[in-house]
Amino acid sequence: MKKNIVFALIAASLLTACASSGKSDKESKIEQKVDSVMKLMTLDEKIGQMVLYSSDWDVTGPSLKKGYIDDIRKGNCGNIFNAHTAAYTRKLQKIAVEESRLHIPLLFGYDVIHGHKTIFPISLGESTSWDLAAIEKSARVSATEAAASGINWTFAPMCDISVEPRWGRVSEGAGEDPFWGSKIAAARVHGFQGDDLSDTLTILACVKHFAAYGAPLAGRDYNTVDMSERVFLDMYLPPYKAAIDAGAMSVMSSFNELDGVPASGSKYLLTDILRTKLGFKGFVVTDYTSINEMVNHGVASTEADAGLLAVKAGVDMDMQGEVYFKYLKKQVEEGLIPGKMIDDAVRRILKVKFMLGLFDDPYRYCNEAREKREIYSPAHLEAAFDVAKKSMVLLKNDNNTLPLQKGEKIAVIGQLAASTRDLLGSWKAAGDWNFMKSTLDELKIYNGEANVIYAKGCKTSGTDRSGFSAAMLAAQRASKIVMVIGESWDLSGEATSRTSISIPGVQTELLEKLKTLNKPIVVVLMNGRPLDLSKESELADAMLETWFPGTMGGKAITHVLFGEYNPAGKLTMTFPRNLGQVPIFYYEKNTGRPLYLPNPKYKSRYIDCPNDPLFPFGFGLSYTTFAYSDIKLSTTELTEKGELKASVNVTNTGDKDGEEVVQCYVRDLVGSVTRPVKELKGFEKIALKVGESKVVTFIITPGMLAFHRLDMSYGTEPGDYKLFIGGNSREVKETEFKLK
Ligand code: NOJ
Repeated sequence: MKKNIVFALIAASLLTACASSGKSDKESKIEQKVDSVMKLMTLDEKIGQMVLYSSDWDVTGPSLKKGYIDDIRKGNCGNIFNAHTAAYTRKLQKIAVEESRLHIPLLFGYDVIHGHKTIFPISLGESTSWDLAAIEKSARVSATEAAASGINWTFAPMCDISVEPRWGRVSEGAGEDPFWGSKIAAARVHGFQGDDLSDTLTILACVKHFAAYGAPLAGRDYNTVDMSERVFLDMYLPPYKAAIDAGAMSVMSSFNELDGVPASGSKYLLTDILRTKLGFKGFVVTDYTSINEMVNHGVASTEADAGLLAVKAGVDMDMQGEVYFKYLKKQVEEGLIPGKMIDDAVRRILKVKFMLGLFDDPYRYCNEAREKREIYSPAHLEAAFDVAKKSMVLLKNDNNTLPLQKGEKIAVIGQLAASTRDLLGSWKAAGDWNFMKSTLDELKIYNGEANVIYAKGCKTSGTDRSGFSAAMLAAQRASKIVMVIGESWDLSGEATSRTSISIPGVQTELLEKLKTLNKPIVVVLMNGRPLDLSKESELADAMLETWFPGTMGGKAITHVLFGEYNPAGKLTMTFPRNLGQVPIFYYEKNTGRPLYLPNPKYKSRYIDCPNDPLFPFGFGLSYTTFAYSDIKLSTTELTEKGELKASVNVTNTGDKDGEEVVQCYVRDLVGSVTRPVKELKGFEKIALKVGESKVVTFIITPGMLAFHRLDMSYGTEPGDYKLFIGGNSREVKETEFKLK
């Protein structure tokens, strides 16, 4: 059928549909357009829309298997991922819209997780900025660059709560807290999608990994997840929900099982929770071959059976597994799957394609001129620099070792100092480390080449100590030592679980040696997970957590070290004293035998280590100091329809202007089920000049205190509460109120 005839048919049926339904809103118009396309589709073409294949990246540039190109042409593949550049996606789109029978445009997906070309800090790093506007902007910049390079769909945000530092993917999330995780999830969705998906500066978001992927047993990626429904609903579900409420139109089912059912075959997750409870209206794509993997999980004996489970559970699109492509048609023809199920899935996918404006102009995301203009634009680099600085967390600063003084002689030690690749972290999308400067380059630019003496010392891994003596010599010639240590970029991200969360290799050993020189030591950390820093925090005079800070990371580190920017980041995952404390998180339960009992032995504690972490959730220092007044409450009795205002006066008591993240927590003292000892309910990031004070007020409403009660209903329970305000989850002011 010729292209113009198809479009004429669509237009004609659309006019009829609009006239008869009388609906005028955008959504119903799109639905009518979808119906008119559906009417023209064969079963093969419908299944083709439910298929997603990956393109490759050869030395010569992007490529796609010959068979997949034929599939696009035949209408057997409606979606591609990992293909990018305006020119290449245009080439593939042309095949879809000019050579396939129905000319349906392709979706182009990509893991634009923390940047497309301009790379921002890893998501865990961004979360420690406590700056939602900056986080949203990072997503928008990423979307703008990706959208100019042919991408219209990102596999982000990752909304997986995790308390597992062994799990390498904590680097991709927002940390351990459901409240903060939810705010970030919504900000990222809005950043990627904007208010209108058809805006060519925005792309489709994908909420992943649905669900509870962040809780694999023993922190081993892809491992079994088993948790109570209450914990799932109260702690793990909220960020996914927030992302869906913010309008995300696609969701990725996760690799893991939950309560014995792999997510991609879970009707409970993908239909009952996702569609019925959360009201999700977009489409569900699997994670990579996760339908096929249900055979390994042991819930299907063949891939065909796994496909049946997936489609019945609510999976609309099969990522890379070729299961839908191979078996769905026959299963529909044999009556194993109702045709309506296929129609519903295809309808959801086409709806999103219409929302993206792809039917109006399939090439709208393949714009070479825009690509040239947007990629690495000065404004984008500035945004990346801004978030990178904001994401850094000052963990220690004895004797005001930091900030460094411009012009002082520093020895810079460590392989990571001279690396550009590591600054980008995992999922660097199209980010190019040849384009950027290392931390060492930036330190030299800022402080003068003659004032920066570099020695690698050792690698991040292995046992080679041959560079130690050169490092010691370099350190002897300087007044301060800046040692950049941590994990290489490939120790975090997917499939990078570790059984040790220590600094790898002999880096700490070199630090110990440097310590013998009796010079102030600044440890600059690069890593994608909470680490056991008990040794390093003893040896270092100052310690700055920089994560993997992205394209502008080297400059951001330099500016923070020299006090051009006063650090204000606060941890969003607890840093344990050692691995044995893991999982450790601030919203633990009290237990029947809490630590504060006078009995010295029979209580919930370790005999060889304190219970509390090395650095608690919410922790981070500044080059200045802050003092908190006691809390003032507007009332001590919160009524069902009322609100309670809790205020503190915060003063900058140091000698530098700075910013503070003021945090508000509550504790429900008696419930029908046990309740966490603290739950974050609000925060405000304030800027205070030297000597300045500000009153920060949090508003608590009953709705904020709701949880899944004993009978699994969601709501509040009257009773006594504690309320805490402070600069981290451990050091807080405290008061009490009653919920009537
Ligand atoms: C597997 C990962 O789990 C997921 O996060 C990613 O989006 C897909 N692969 C596609 O690259």
